[in-house]
Amino acid sequence: MLVDAQKAIEVNFHEHIAPIIHKNCTPCHQPNKSGPFNLLTYEDVSKRAKFIGKVTESRYMPPFPADRQFQAYLNERGLTVGEITKIKLWIEGGLKEGVLKSTDISQQSIESDLIKPDLVLKMNKPYPISGENLEDFRFFSLPSNTPRDEYITAIGFTAGNKKVVHHSRLMVDTTNTIRGIDGLSETDPKVYEFQKTALKEEFLYGWVPGNDKISFPKGTGIKLNANADFLLNMHYAPSPVPDTDQSEIQLYFAKEKIEREVRNFTLRDNDISNKPFLIKAGQKATFFISKKIDKPMSLISVLPHMHLIGKTFRAFVITPDGEVINLVKIDNWDFNWQMTYQFKKLLKVSAGSTFIVEGTYDNTAENPENPYNPPRDIGYGWGTKDEMFNLVLYYLDYKEGDENVEQK
Ligand code: HEC
Repeated sequence: MLVDAQKAIEVNFHEHIAPIIHKNCTPCHQPNKSGPFNLLTYEDVSKRAKFIGKVTESRYMPPFPADRQFQAYLNERGLTVGEITKIKLWIEGGLKEGVLKSTDISQQSIESDLIKPDLVLKMNKPYPISGENLEDFRFFSLPSNTPRDEYITAIGFTAGNKKVVHHSRLMVDTTNTIRGIDGLSETDPKVYEFQKTALKEEFLYGWVPGNDKISFPKGTGIKLNANADFLLNMHYAPSPVPDTDQSEIQLYFAKEKIEREVRNFTLRDNDISNKPFLIKAGQKATFFISKKIDKPMSLISVLPHMHLIGKTFRAFVITPDGEVINLVKIDNWDFNWQMTYQFKKLLKVSAGSTFIVEGTYDNTAENPENPYNPPRDIGYGWGTKDEMFNLVLYYLDYKEGDENVEQK
């Protein structure tokens, strides 16, 4: 007891707590980022200290759904047990402020976006959100109007109104047949027509509160055909008051020659080995994807995707030598926190390897996330109350030595 009390007295904000907060929380909890309030100064943090103690101890914050023991990621976040304990001791010790040193200006951690995007596409006009407390899913077409082919080297997204934007997904259409959509509801029967269009990219980028801008390795990029259209799928959270949103995407184009094209490969419901992909009302189900590849690849990142009744997600690769390469493992699927997991190093997957993906779903009435009460049969579909089972991969064709390439 005495030792603990002693330690608590020693922990102060500027010396011990600020570095933890600034590294792990401030990237989102600052003006114009996704966090609902700022965590910059002693005042910001101390007035919410109890709450912060709770969300760090439960590991709800910082959000990072994937198991970091399973694989290491460039964009991983999380506190160590020591850091969580320090926060606890600071709270128990009475929120000592300590002395602000000239070197630890909290503003330092405010991200500066020094590099300007080459193309910023904003929704045509502010989209009106009704104040009737309903989930709202909408499609918007954003023509690129690019006169020539470009290579995308990084993609970012800014929610126009972070109170209501829940998540978004960006697709690319090169047929120009979906043009003109501006706020089409996901429940509109036209969506099932559009769904037949073969999109160039079904999942160019997925954004959730706090997802980072994705940057591809140096000298690589995704081809954007001249005049292609972006299709933005927006999910708005229920709002008790009328509101508006006008979100934007930022694209960064290659200035130098792109030596290697970033490719995008989606393991999906078609690849399921135990079809049909139907989760019967009142039941739980597990689906598997098993897909063998014949060319070697270097994986940049993975993005797992399921909807509301998804529970767990796991993906790995078995090489022809029987070696297992872990990709991603999520034990507690949360529809609200889906992100792109970028590997620390490029991951080599040799020719003849098999991707294995396992997803579990719970369509019982006991599942609080079930969109239907009583439960109904749920199958594949774009709608949020339908289900999906995807693993989206960004990769490069393998080149000798890729496995030693650290992603920046
Ligand atoms: C990736 C972005 C991100 C990071 C990093 C992050 N937060 Fe958050 N935080 C959010 C968003 C978005 C919300 C609001 C949505 C929610 O509550 O789930 C939130 C909500 C919260 C809440 C309110 C929770 C509630 O139930 O209302 C607290 C407290 C909080 N964050 C503290 C922290 C602390 C402390 C850290 C660092 C240890 C942190 N956050 C790191 C994005 C982030």
